Parts: sequence; structure tokens; C-alpha cells
Amino acid sequence: MKPVLVRSVAELRKITGEWRRKDEKSAVVPTMGALHEGHLTLVREGFRRADRVVATIFVNPKQFAANEDFGRYPRDEDSDVAMLASEKVNAVFIPSPAEMYGPHFATTVSLAGPAKAGLEDKYRPQFFDGVTTVVAKLFLQTGADFAMFGEKDYQQLMTVTAMARDLDIPITVIGVPTVREEDGLAKSSRNRYLSKHERSQAVAIYKTLTQAAEKIRNGTDHQVATTAAVRSLTTLGFKVDYVTARNAETLAVPKTASEPLRLIAAAWIGKTRLIDNIAV
Ligand code: PAJ
Repeated sequence: MKPVLVRSVAELRKITGEWRRKDEKSAVVPTMGALHEGHLTLVREGFRRADRVVATIFVNPKQFAANEDFGRYPRDEDSDVAMLASEKVNAVFIPSPAEMYGPHFATTVSLAGPAKAGLEDKYRPQFFDGVTTVVAKLFLQTGADFAMFGEKDYQQLMTVTAMARDLDIPITVIGVPTVREEDGLAKSSRNRYLSKHERSQAVAIYKTLTQAAEKIRNGTDHQVATTAAVRSLTTLGFKVDYVTARNAETLAVPKTASEPLRLIAAAWIGKTRLIDNIAV
């Protein structure tokens, strides 16, 4: 069955309200479209936990800086909806910017903690305010029981988890492991910006993270391992924003040798910025 396409909050509320009345659990999968296997895995995980899945497609202007790729971010509603239909998603919410942000819109949801860890927030200062503002709205608009987020955007996952906790939004945020290409490159809507040559280089991020994690597991100090990782990516032609080991839960700089660690990286290849992370 084709999913219902929903463009207004009022319509969305009607549908999800109907589900709640029937005591059906629902999961929301927030996306910006340009869907790939990573997104579809979130949908499948949603159906493992809930009776109904609503996917959202909204290229959120608030999380892009003026110099970023908002204008050229890939948009293909027909193909996205077809992919969601093949996963039997129940509803797809595709609001316009005007539906999300009315003319008098005045609210920003802004977090400290994981959203100010000095990672993505340092390089994209407006990013998490944009994400948390739109995700808070999506949580409240859908009233979903579960929200599915990818570990691919690890700082985002930690941030929206903290937001739901802090604001007592009755939703359980579920983190889903990163879906990768065969060579290990994390699937991303932005991979389609890569030239053939850049695509063949791009896997180095994952390979370098894997090697650094292995070194740390074998006793190398995390700072030594990540400094070496930055050096080797730079030698390969990347412009590295960061490669760092952080506490896997708080994203704080690790203080002891026994903390659970996450290795997190962001680097440019040509004009494309890629991010990735792995557990240590
Ligand atoms: P987008 O980049 O479209 O990603 C939507 C969701 O898919 C995010 O939770 C992201 O972590 C997950 N995802 C992307 N690639 C993945 C992969 N290879 N494996 C597993 N999950 C993957 O992230 C956003 O959109 C936006 O910031 C959003 C949360 C929708 C707010 O605007």
C-alpha cells in the first residue's frame, strides 16, 4: 500500500491521533530526503518496535549556514516516496518551509552538553540549534513513541536524545548502527557530490578510524592515535576538521583510560565534507 502523503501538521495529527486511539505504537524517522539504504534501515528498525512508521522529509533551512549546500542539497520527492512505499511506511510528512516556520516563528531549541562538545558545533555553529528546533517540532507534531536516528551522525544522536530527556518529551530515541558501502564508506546523501576519484579516496576516513581504534584497543594513547590519523588523512589529500576520541555517552574529552570511547571524524575531500565515527 502507498503511504499517505501529508503536507500539513493538522493532517498529520489526524492520522497519528487515529493510531493512538487504536493503541498502535508509532515510530518517526526524520530525514532530509535523498534517501538511501541508511534511511531505509531506520524505517525497518522502526517497524521492529512500532506498528506504524511515519517518515518525514524536510530539508531544514535552519540547520544550514549561508555558505552551505542548502540550495544544492539533493531533492527527489518521487524517488524518496517510492523507496518509502516499498518499505510499507504508513505516512510521509513533507511540510513546506512555510508550514514548519510560520511568519511569526520565534522559538529556538538550544542545548549545551553534547551539542557543545566542540565537534560539529565548532565547524557549523548554527547546526544543532537548527536540528534541535526542527526535531523538537517533529517529535511534538507526530507524538511518536519512538524516534529512529543513525549513529552515522553520532553527535546529533546524542543531542536529540538529551533534548527529549531534558524536555520530558515522551519519546524513546533509538540509535541505529551506520550502514556502509561495500568498501566501508558510510552511506550518505552527500556521497553523490563525490567525483569518481574522490569516491575512491573517501573510504580512507573509515579505514583510518578503524586503524586508530585498533591501536587504542592495543594500548596506544588515544591522542597519539588520533594525531597519527589526522596526519595520514592529510597526507592522502583530505582537509581534516577533526579526528578525536570522546566519551561515547557525554562526548566529553576522556579523562580516564577505562571510559567507553567513540572515535569521531570530519574531513573535506575536495568540496565535500564527510563525517564518520566508530566505537573503540
Ligand atoms: P539526514 O542526513 O537525511 O539523515 C536522516 C537520518 O538518517 C539521521 O538519523 C541519520 O543519522 C541517518 N543516516 C544517514 N546516513 C546513515 C547511514 N549510513 N546509516 C545509518 N543511518 C544513517 O540527519 C538529518 O537528515 C537531519 O539533521 C534531521 C535529523 C532530519 C533534522 O533535519
